[in-house]
Amino acid sequence: PLIRLEDYRPSDWLIDTVDLDINLHPQKTQVRALLGLRPNPAGRLGAPLILDGDELSLSGLRLDGLLIDESAYSATAQALTLHAPPQRRFTLTIDTQVDPSANTKLMGLYRSSRVYCTQCEADGFRRISYFLDRPDVMSIYSVRLEAAKLEAPVLLSNGNLVAAGEMAGGERHFAVWHDPHPKPAYLFALVGGALDHVRQDYVTADGRKVELAVHVEPGKAGRAGWAMDCLVRCMRWDERVFGRNYDLDVFNVVAVSDFNMGAMENKGLNIFNDKYVLADPQTATDGDYASIEAIIAHEYFHNWTGNRITCRDWFQLCLKEGLTVFRDQEFSADERSRPVKRIADVRTLRSTQFSEDAGPLAHPVRPRAYKEINNFYTPTVYEKGAEVIRMLKLLVGDDAFRAGMDLYFDRCDGTAATIEEFLACFAETSGKDLTQFARWYEQAGTPTIVASGRYDAAARTYTLDLAQTTAPTPGQPDKQPVVLPVALGLVGKAGDLPLVTGSAAYAGDGVIVLDQPSLSVAFSDVDEPPIPSLLRGFSAPARLELDLADADLLRLFSADSDSFNRWQALQSVASRALVSAGRSPGGHNALIATAGELAEALAGFLRVQAPADPAFAAQVLRLPVPADIAREIGRDVDPDAIHAAHRSLAAEIGLRLRPHLMELRERLGTSAAYRPDAASAGRRALRNEALGLIALADPEAGARLAEAQFAAADNLTDRLAALAAMTLVPGDAREALIARFAKTYAAEPLVLDKWLMAQALIAEAGTLDRVKGLMQHPAFSLGNPNRVRALIGGFAANLTQFNRPDGEGYAFVADMVVALDRTNPQVASRLLGSFKSWRMLEPARKALAEQKLAMVAQTPGLSRDVADIAERALA
Ligand code: ARG
Ligand code: ZN
Repeated sequence: PLIRLEDYRPSDWLIDTVDLDINLHPQKTQVRALLGLRPNPAGRLGAPLILDGDELSLSGLRLDGLLIDESAYSATAQALTLHAPPQRRFTLTIDTQVDPSANTKLMGLYRSSRVYCTQCEADGFRRISYFLDRPDVMSIYSVRLEAAKLEAPVLLSNGNLVAAGEMAGGERHFAVWHDPHPKPAYLFALVGGALDHVRQDYVTADGRKVELAVHVEPGKAGRAGWAMDCLVRCMRWDERVFGRNYDLDVFNVVAVSDFNMGAMENKGLNIFNDKYVLADPQTATDGDYASIEAIIAHEYFHNWTGNRITCRDWFQLCLKEGLTVFRDQEFSADERSRPVKRIADVRTLRSTQFSEDAGPLAHPVRPRAYKEINNFYTPTVYEKGAEVIRMLKLLVGDDAFRAGMDLYFDRCDGTAATIEEFLACFAETSGKDLTQFARWYEQAGTPTIVASGRYDAAARTYTLDLAQTTAPTPGQPDKQPVVLPVALGLVGKAGDLPLVTGSAAYAGDGVIVLDQPSLSVAFSDVDEPPIPSLLRGFSAPARLELDLADADLLRLFSADSDSFNRWQALQSVASRALVSAGRSPGGHNALIATAGELAEALAGFLRVQAPADPAFAAQVLRLPVPADIAREIGRDVDPDAIHAAHRSLAAEIGLRLRPHLMELRERLGTSAAYRPDAASAGRRALRNEALGLIALADPEAGARLAEAQFAAADNLTDRLAALAAMTLVPGDAREALIARFAKTYAAEPLVLDKWLMAQALIAEAGTLDRVKGLMQHPAFSLGNPNRVRALIGGFAANLTQFNRPDGEGYAFVADMVVALDRTNPQVASRLLGSFKSWRMLEPARKALAEQKLAMVAQTPGLSRDVADIAERALA
C-alpha cells in the first residue's frame, strides 16, 4: 500500500513503558514484552488496538496479567489486534519466539558471526515483538537479557546497566538495562556475544562521567583504538560547537560483520558495520580512517539530532539524517582540511545524488509518499538534506543558525518533530520568512543556474544575469523557483574586486540570493573586466552553466581566493572537453589540446603549490569521473565513448606531466612509519594520484612503479593504490599482483572486499567472467552484505562493463537481484538501484536495460523493497 504524508494521524494508543525479557537462543529466542498502554488523548476514542508484526507468531497474550478470550483479539504474522481494548491504562504481556539464526534479512534480531544483534530502523522492531512500530510512539524501556554465558558473555542494551548475575546452575546469566530517555522502537537494540573491547573514561563538559567502550570480535581490540579516538574527539566537538553533552553513564559501540547499512544510532548502543570501526595500518586505508571518523561522529551526533529529538513519521527522515550528515561533515571539516572535505563531499553529492535526481528514482528531500521506507535512505535524504541545512546556515548567518539550533534543542527535546517545527526555530531567530526556502524539502530535481556577465567599461559596471530552472521529475512536471544562495566573487588582476551594489538580491558578504526565475545584479565601481567566480564553496546544490573561456577558468584556477572554485575551475575545463568528446567520438584533437592546457596549468601548480597542500593537490589531479560526464551529456549516452575520452585525456596529461609527477613522488616519499592523520594521508593521496596518471600514460613504467610500491609499502593505502594502478594495465604482471594481494590478505575479509572491488571495476570485456569466477572464491559470500556490495555492487558501478553493449552486464546484475531478494531484500533493492540511470543511455543499451528491469519486475514473489524500485525505475 502507498503511505502518504497527508494521511498522517496521531496514534490512537500510546505505550509509556516497555519491559522486555529476552531469552537468547540461536534458534528459539523467547521474547516477553510487557507494554504499558493508554489511549492517546490526541487519537480516536474507542479505536481498536492494532500492533504491527512482521513474520511473528504469538505464543502468549495477557491483559493486565490475565488470559483473555480468543474472540477478543486476532493475531497474524503482520498484526495483533485487540478489537475492543479497555479505554483506560492497561498492560499487555506478549510472548513471541523468534529464530535469530534464520534471519537473513538482517532486520530485527539476528546473528552475525555468532553475535546476537539487532537492527530496528526503520521497522524491524515488529520482527521481534508486536508493537506500535512508529517513531511518534515513545516509551521508557527496561530490558532483561538472558543467555548462555559461554555463548554470550557480553550482554548489552540501551541505557545504563542496572543489574547482572548468574542463573541457578551457572550455565546462563542475565543483565538488566534501563534507558531513562523515552524513545521510539526503532532505537531499541541489544547485543549478545563473545566480544573484546577497548574502554575509556570520559567526563562531559557539564560534568557527567561516562564509560565509553568499543566492542569488537575477539582478537580485534587492537583495531578499535582509532574508533575510540574519533569518539572522544567528536564528543568534545559537539560540546564546543553545538553545546550538546552526552546524557547516559555508558556509551557502547559494537562492530558486527553482517550489516545492511553503515551503522545505527541506537540510544547508548551504536551498532556498526565492522568496516566502519576496525582500523589499523595493515587492514584499513586512509579513506577507511576518514570514513570511520565521519560515521562514528554521525552516529554519536544522532544522540541529539535523531534520538533526543526524533521524527514524527518517516517522511521527516531528513530531519535527523540531513541535519546529522551536515553535523558530521562540519566535524570532519574542522578536524581535517575544510576545502578538501568540501570537495570530497561535493564529488559524492554529484555522483550519487545528482544522478538520483536526474533519473526515475528522483524524489524530494521529504518524500510525499512511499511504499517501502527502507528505499528512502537515499543520497537525496542524506546528502541533499545536508546541503539544505548548509544553505539555511548561509542564509540566516552563523549566529541565527546557532541560536536556531539551540531553540530547536530546547523546544523539541523529548518529542517526535517535523521539518515545519525545525524551520520555525530559524524563522524565529533570524526574523526571516522561510516559506519559499521550505520548497527545498518538497521539490525534487537539481536546479540549473544559467549565468552570464557583461562588463561596461565606460560605466564601470558589471552586470550579472542569473536564471534558474529545474527539469521535471516523476510526479512533478512543473517546477517552482527555489531559494539559491549564490556565493560569489569578481576576480580581477590582483584578486577579488570589492562588490558594490544596491541590488536587493545581494545579501551582503558575497552572496546573491537567487529566488526568482531570473534576476540581474549590477555591480558598480568595477575598474576592470572581472572573471565571475560563482557558487563559491558550492553554496547551493545546483548545476551551473556559465560560459567562461578556458583561459578564464585557468585564471580562476590560479587566482581565485576560494579553494573550492579553484578546484572547480580545472574540473570545468576537463569536463567540457570530456562531454564534447563523449558526445561525438572523433574529437580527439580537441581533447589533446585541452590536455595541453591542463598540463601546462598543472605543471607550475605541482612544482610550487602541491607540496604545501598535497591533499588539495590530489583532488586537483583527479579528473571528473566518467559517470559525471555521462550525466552532463544526459541523453543517448555511450559509456564506451566517455570512457575512451576519459582515458585519453588522463593518459595525455600523465604523459606531459610525467617528469613532474615522478619528481613529486620522490619529494613526497617518506621513510617514516604510517600515521593516519590528514596531512600524512594527503601526501599518500597525491603520490598515488600521480601513480595512476603515470600508469595510464605509460603502462610499463606504471606497472614497475606499482610493483615496487606494493613491495615497499608498510600500509594498506599504498598497497591498494598499487593494485588499483596495476589493474589499469592488462597482462601477467597484473594477474601476479592480484594473486599476491589475495595471499597477503587471505585472513582479512574487509581487505579482500577491496580486492574484489578493484577487480570488479576493471574496464575490460573480461571483467564479467572474472566477477562470475570470483563468486566461487572462498573470500566471497552472497550472505554477507559487504561482500555483495564489493563484488556485485562494484561491478554494477563499472560504467563500461555494467553497460556492456550485449546487455550481459544488466542480465548478471538483474539475476543477482532476484537471487538476493529471497534472502535479503534490502541488499537486493540497493543493488537494483544501479539501474537508476538507464533512461539516459543510447537506444540499444536502453532497450536491453529495460528488458532486464522488466524481468525483475515480473518475477513472482518479489519483496516490497525490490518491487518498489523496479516499478519506479520503469514508470
Ligand atoms: N539511521 C542510520 C544512519 O543513518 C541508518 C539506518 C538505516 N537502516 C535501514 N535499514 N534503513 O546512521
Ligand atoms: Zn544517520
